[in-house]
Amino acid sequence: MTTREEILRGVRGYGEAKCAAEESKGFVPGESFISTGGKVVDAQDLVNMVDSVLDGWFTSGRYHDEFEQKLAAWVGVQHCAFVNSGSSANLNALAALTSPKLGKRQLLPGDEVITPVAGFPTTINPILQLGLKPVFVDVELGTYDAVDEQIVSLVEQSHSEGGDKKIKAIMMAHTLGNPFNVTLMRELCDKYGLWLVEDACDALGTTIDGKRVGTFGDLATASFYPAHHITTGEGGAVFCNNGLLAKEVKSFRDWGRACWCDTGHDNACGKRFDWQLGKLPKGYDHKYTYDNIGYNLKATDIQAALGVSQLDKIDNTVSTRHKNGDKLYTAICTAFGVDAQALENGEHLTAGPFVMPVVAKNVNLSWFGFPLTLDPSRPELDREDLIQFLNSRKIGTRLVFASNILRQPAYVGLVEAGRARTFGGGNGVDGDFPNADVVTNRSFWLGTHPNLSDEMITFMADSLKEWVNGQ
Ligand SMILES: Cc1ncc(COP(=O)(O)O)c(C=O)c1O
Repeated sequence: MTTREEILRGVRGYGEAKCAAEESKGFVPGESFISTGGKVVDAQDLVNMVDSVLDGWFTSGRYHDEFEQKLAAWVGVQHCAFVNSGSSANLNALAALTSPKLGKRQLLPGDEVITPVAGFPTTINPILQLGLKPVFVDVELGTYDAVDEQIVSLVEQSHSEGGDKKIKAIMMAHTLGNPFNVTLMRELCDKYGLWLVEDACDALGTTIDGKRVGTFGDLATASFYPAHHITTGEGGAVFCNNGLLAKEVKSFRDWGRACWCDTGHDNACGKRFDWQLGKLPKGYDHKYTYDNIGYNLKATDIQAALGVSQLDKIDNTVSTRHKNGDKLYTAICTAFGVDAQALENGEHLTAGPFVMPVVAKNVNLSWFGFPLTLDPSRPELDREDLIQFLNSRKIGTRLVFASNILRQPAYVGLVEAGRARTFGGGNGVDGDFPNADVVTNRSFWLGTHPNLSDEMITFMADSLKEWVNGQ
């Protein structure tokens, strides 16, 4: 019989040869595709996954525990729950805040959650899915994060004397890796007793004053979809530092059950057949007792095995993304003959007709992508034409996810239906969110992933310049 060692040796050999073949492919400008996302997968990743398959366990097991522990330590949090996507992580995190165990701080239907109007849909969807009400604010051009002043004003209004006090949480993403103002949001949430949920799906490894994102919110999330900093195929995680929240997160992830035993284990509480809960008979098996109306958001051990080997590469990926974003910034500045110092200074800059990204001085950015906006004062320049031009040169682009989400088919009419409200009280599409509308019409992003070469970065910047010259 072939042994496990022989199988794994064969897999390693196959993986090494495959990686070497990939690496030897040269870059031909205009012919080789420059993607917006790129995972870093090596022979060890294949070995880990096959090793997990050979265990024959499949559901959460030894790799799962190892991944959760190592990831929590790397991010700098006490608790981590591995789930099957970043979207599940967002749903799981917010659902945990609806647990009756939170007493007066339990989120109840109709409670309001502040969130930016432009971003990824599944940052917003859990708010609606849980019967809560999103309160939308505009975004800044340059960071594509929320306009702080709108959030402060909404919270102060809601919590002033005579205010309805319905705003109970802020949930938002560090757009494309660039963090929102966590210090201000943390202060605001602490002052008014609000929850802060940090969607760090795009931002793993970004630091603020040297501290990693994912550590500032009451709860935070990550995504391991292949375009992200590490991958588990599909996957995500919920982070927190609070034992009760951690327990509720796992309960909602694992069908809503009361029992906190790991898969394959029994009687962690020492009284599995001794509880009397709800209106169940005394002794009803704790494993089949449900504290919460939950989901099954778990991932497999094969995904966790990949996560474990991906973590060995994360520091390198984070620093390469950081360098690539900075290099692209400098290359675009060079192409348009402007000084790139604005990046270091945390200042706004327009290079040719492009509004450049803005990064706060205390941030070390692990770029997920590189957002650009065509200057709104140059309406003769058409984004779709630019995207087609880049596409013809095999340069991949993406839009800023859903842009102004209230313009998306599934969301049109939400405000009118009373399921959402906006800063300023409008319907969100008649000019209330001027920046989100600019994002919808004039923004896009380019890749910063670790598989990009300096040649590709220069080609991207030069192509932007050539398109402008041709207008
Ligand atoms: C900000 C943000 N949140 C959540 C998600 C959802 O992650 P997933 O694709 O793993 O469900 C994404 C996806 O890219 C995202 O960009």
